[in-house]
Amino acid sequence: MKRLLIVIAAALSFACTRQEVIFLNNMTAECTLKKGEVIMLPVQEDAPAAKLYVIGNKEKIQYDILPATSTVDYHVQYKAEDNCVVRIEGVSFQSVFYKKLKRGHDGKKHSFLHFTPSSGWINDPNGLVYKDGVWHMYFQYNPFFSKWGNMSWGHATSKDLVNWKEHPVALMPDSLGMIFSGSAACDKNRIAAMYTSAGKGQSQSLAWSYDGGMTYVKLPSNPVLKSSNPDFRDPKIFRYEDSWRMVLASGNTIEIYSSSNLIDWDYESCFGEEIGNHGGVWECPDLFELPYLDGKKWVLLVSNTRDTNHGSAVQYFIGDFDGSEFTPCDNNVRWLDYGRDFYAAASWNDAPDGRRVAIAWANNWQYANDIPFVGTRGGMTVPRELSLLDYGDDIVLKNKPVHEIVHTLPHVAGRNPFIWEGKVVDGDEIVLRNKCGEALKISFSRNVVSVNRRFSGNVTFNDAYPSIDRAPIQASETHDVSLLVDSNLVEIFIDDGAVSFTESVFPSRQYSIIDIW
Ligand code: FRU
Repeated sequence: MKRLLIVIAAALSFACTRQEVIFLNNMTAECTLKKGEVIMLPVQEDAPAAKLYVIGNKEKIQYDILPATSTVDYHVQYKAEDNCVVRIEGVSFQSVFYKKLKRGHDGKKHSFLHFTPSSGWINDPNGLVYKDGVWHMYFQYNPFFSKWGNMSWGHATSKDLVNWKEHPVALMPDSLGMIFSGSAACDKNRIAAMYTSAGKGQSQSLAWSYDGGMTYVKLPSNPVLKSSNPDFRDPKIFRYEDSWRMVLASGNTIEIYSSSNLIDWDYESCFGEEIGNHGGVWECPDLFELPYLDGKKWVLLVSNTRDTNHGSAVQYFIGDFDGSEFTPCDNNVRWLDYGRDFYAAASWNDAPDGRRVAIAWANNWQYANDIPFVGTRGGMTVPRELSLLDYGDDIVLKNKPVHEIVHTLPHVAGRNPFIWEGKVVDGDEIVLRNKCGEALKISFSRNVVSVNRRFSGNVTFNDAYPSIDRAPIQASETHDVSLLVDSNLVEIFIDDGAVSFTESVFPSRQYSIIDIW
């Protein structure tokens, strides 16, 4: 029987030319890949899950796949990190999957203002680090289908924060588990990446890159930091004087650790038990210093579910940090963005010219796995410059698109993407629309701005999606407004980024008309 199947396999000979697919039985097949070889796997999103194993010299890693059984929704590509055997279990040898399995790249070049990978699923930005003129962005990535799973670190780079180039996956799951969120920083001439290994529990692991961030070598003695807490993740490392600090989400709080070598960590303090919003567990902290008036202040970012209506959001605290403890200047709850699609915001380490540039996942856990499929699921906001500003009678963390983007994009409504800039007064309504009657409405009334996307296009894919969001704005005769409009994302900046809204939209045609009423 086995022989017969091998013959059948050879006779079909597949679109997959070089690597032989050998059937071990009618539901299990193997092929051998050399280091760097790529196979394109056909996916059908509503097909039953199957398993793919990558069997190398030292490890056997298991992934979930959604193999095409009757129709191909899209292909995803897997590139072998090393010589290995790929075993597919649970897919019939007669299935469409084997007819459409191909070798090689899709050949597409990806250069996006709002970064999305060529295929698969993306969530949080990870490992943001600038080195030798290159902005590195790693990201939570499922290379095998476009829903959450198989978490790895995808990788993209940019020289100008506008155009992004996608690279092979930088960190794949291993025997400690999936690779959850984390950070990276320059350490002499190598890059250190600290991430959460999510397997039986959650622990922190370290990897070094000696080739400018393209590939990583994991520390053999990983993990470097363990806990019995089931929610213990998303380490952000940064330099503090001549040693290292790490902020880490632990349940509903943020823990702070210190180290001289990134391997041995000492607990310093815990922040957040009785302060801030606790609508859900705290995730993805970031702690950094910014100029404020004649001095400096520290800012702590925390991502969590704001409430059951709003879902994902990013809160922040302003205060002081002495290397050991973070002390907030007040008990205020502040939100970095008031839209529905701004989460896991993080900033680049080692950015030039003292810049503090951040980026966020433009999505919301309430419906992220359901957004109408547009090639890949999920994407990033544009990179945003952060600064502290007095606004009304408060201090706010202002965020606005980096100048590289503002200078590059056309200021012409209808181009894709485009920027629109204007001024409004109290009582005005900005209507961003297309010719199909679909519109996003931004209304200014009595120092509150509201954004209504209930009629913005496809709003029925998930009950949590149709929304009206509100934010307070300072009392003023006029307000500056700038809109950054891409096919599926609208970013709204009011009063130079003192208030912002990030909203995903799914119109049947791109918005090209702006009316002010
Ligand atoms: C935030 C998050 C992180 C975690 C990652 C897993 O969106 O839940 O806490 O590391 O996503 O993909």
